[in-house]
Amino acid sequence: MDAFVSKLMSKMTLDEKIGQLNLVTSGRATTGSVVNKGVEDNIKKGAIGGIFGGYGTDFIGKAQDLAVKNSRLHIPLIFGLDVIHGHRTIFPIPLGISATWDMKLIEQSARIAATEATGEGINWVFSPMVDIARDARWGRISEGSGEDPWYGSQVAKAMVRGYQNGDMTKSDAVMACVKHFALYGGAEAGREYNTVDMSLIKMYQDYLPPYKAALDAGAGSFMSSFNTINGMPATVNKWLLTDLLRKQWGFKGFVVSDYTSLNEVTAHGLGDLQTVSALALKAGLDMDMVGEGFLTTLKKSLKEGKVTQAEIDLACRRVLEAKYKLGLFTNPYKSINAGVESKSELTDANRKAARETAEHSFVLLKNKGQILPLKKSGTIALIGPLADNHSEMLGTWVIAGDPNKSVSVIDGIKNAAGSNVNILYARGSNITDDSLLNERAWFFGMKQIRDKRPAQEMIDEAVATAQKADVIVAVVGESANMSGESASRSDINIPETQRDLLKALVKTGKPIVAVLFNGRPLTLTWEDKNLDAILDVWAPGTEAGSAVADVLFGNYNPGGKITATFPRSVGQIPIYYNHKNTGRPFDGTGSAKFRSDYIDISNDPLYPFGYGLSYTTFHYGDVKLSKTNLKGNETLTATVTVSNTGKLAGEEVVQLYVGDPVASISRSVKELKNFKKISLQPGEQKDVSFNITTNDLKFYNTALKYDWEPGEFIIQIGTNSSDVHSAKIQWIK
Ligand code: BGC
Repeated sequence: MDAFVSKLMSKMTLDEKIGQLNLVTSGRATTGSVVNKGVEDNIKKGAIGGIFGGYGTDFIGKAQDLAVKNSRLHIPLIFGLDVIHGHRTIFPIPLGISATWDMKLIEQSARIAATEATGEGINWVFSPMVDIARDARWGRISEGSGEDPWYGSQVAKAMVRGYQNGDMTKSDAVMACVKHFALYGGAEAGREYNTVDMSLIKMYQDYLPPYKAALDAGAGSFMSSFNTINGMPATVNKWLLTDLLRKQWGFKGFVVSDYTSLNEVTAHGLGDLQTVSALALKAGLDMDMVGEGFLTTLKKSLKEGKVTQAEIDLACRRVLEAKYKLGLFTNPYKSINAGVESKSELTDANRKAARETAEHSFVLLKNKGQILPLKKSGTIALIGPLADNHSEMLGTWVIAGDPNKSVSVIDGIKNAAGSNVNILYARGSNITDDSLLNERAWFFGMKQIRDKRPAQEMIDEAVATAQKADVIVAVVGESANMSGESASRSDINIPETQRDLLKALVKTGKPIVAVLFNGRPLTLTWEDKNLDAILDVWAPGTEAGSAVADVLFGNYNPGGKITATFPRSVGQIPIYYNHKNTGRPFDGTGSAKFRSDYIDISNDPLYPFGYGLSYTTFHYGDVKLSKTNLKGNETLTATVTVSNTGKLAGEEVVQLYVGDPVASISRSVKELKNFKKISLQPGEQKDVSFNITTNDLKFYNTALKYDWEPGEFIIQIGTNSSDVHSAKIQWIK
């Protein structure tokens, strides 16, 4: 590779080198107001290194023709796309997929996305998004794996493996782009693109691990984030892009900016486009997305001595190396292969995988009186704005997925119910009647399916329908784009008009099951109190309705667990399980003054990290330890016996947490260190063991050294982060 790239670069003019650093948008599905012009001419001139946002053999074939046939040096373009949770076959949104706790399913979803995307000429995906998020107001919490750094790291690795398939020259492999580097999820107040200011220990301990894990799994590229970090925008942050990413972590790939994030450094207050472009190049940014800051200013900056030839060469080399690693120099059209396109997309096998993944992603939040699973007899009133709706099934960030090819909830339920079930339907309400939300929560050409009738008339019809039924299934929640980019919310309730509908349905006295669509943890305190069952289905993807029906009727017993804490109220945010103790911890009892609490609400979340029920019940025995006093590199084995005490077979995610009550700094009360997903038949019991080494005790100390300190540790195993059985050990050096 080195020799090949050096030889090629020896033939390149300065303009051609700078051209490689220029990434333009196809103009489809853009997330900014700036769109590139003169793309065809620029490709021919060698002034473009890659295009994103376009797909399909026709589009990509023609663009690649321009580059390899009509540009002087025939350098192929790289083609990127936001393939976030599937390409044509859409899987659950990432927050949903993370609730599977199943790395094989997660990897498979990325693998299938890659086969479909490569069939349409894509060789680079802007995924995985590995930003840790502890703030459910932030819309992009839907695009990540929740709040836990260890768990997020496992998902990050699985996604990279799935995309890159061990060898990026393979025709069905794409290069992953890890985003958004870094700390984008730490935005103040959960407001999109907002400031991040964070201690180094918190960064290293809680926010950076998933990026590092993706790098260690071989991710070929990184995307810089929109936010500032302690005053310095990520896109021009030398500490971040060079000292940390390359020097400390050893990253060998290339870094692309986010959509005009380089130009936006001007708005952050660091100078004009020429100044910030020079800063970015020096900081370690290699490719400029959309804004053409590199394209239009680097030559001038070189002349004026503001950047060096070596800096331009280095960035150019990294982009060319990526193309080399993808095998584009030997096969620039590698995956553009008419026939593959239609054969590999939305196949029965892909749809089956999407259905299975969706089922595994659902989280049963409540199930009073075991009302679920539903019987396949009697009358079901299916009510709610998301019940007969294809367009909202796929979730946020779907470019090539076709909502019309998705299974709606009503269709899924009708297909599965059989002839003994009578299904009645009423829309009941619109998704929202809030004019601001209406305006902002549908974009990318999507429109809310709106019923023009007055809200009360729709509610009356729904109540009349419900009165004829044995059970109400209310399909409610957020629209697909109420979460995702630029979709922060200050109120994370179910939209008011749907809450009004639910209130009217509760008054009928009929049992109510809510099938909840959401791209973030919502505040469900009212729903938890008033509804009989809540099944959280996120945005399930192409096979939405089939998966919902499978779970409602008990063909599959749900076992998903939430990966982000559900607060009781938005005022508790940020709320996360791995918090620190305060000096005045509140033990949950009484109403003592001068404790760390609120005077109007408890400290506890509504549903803690790792929470999720099953149609069966599990009993956990005490934690049994192989030893209680350990030394040095010994291994501890901790075991619990888990029994299925209910009447159905089920899956359980057994979670291991470790607490470090005495250390040189104040530590989180507990940290997830491992989990095992097990299946148990009714009456069956299994011993679940975890091996624990000193690696599981390590943390970043004040010198940012990652090490463990001797002393007491608390080994905790349980069904979620709050409900654990504990045992103490001593571990000395
Ligand atoms: C988003 C990225 C995305 C990019 C390209 C940006 O607005 O932040 O996640 O990959 O657009 O579409």
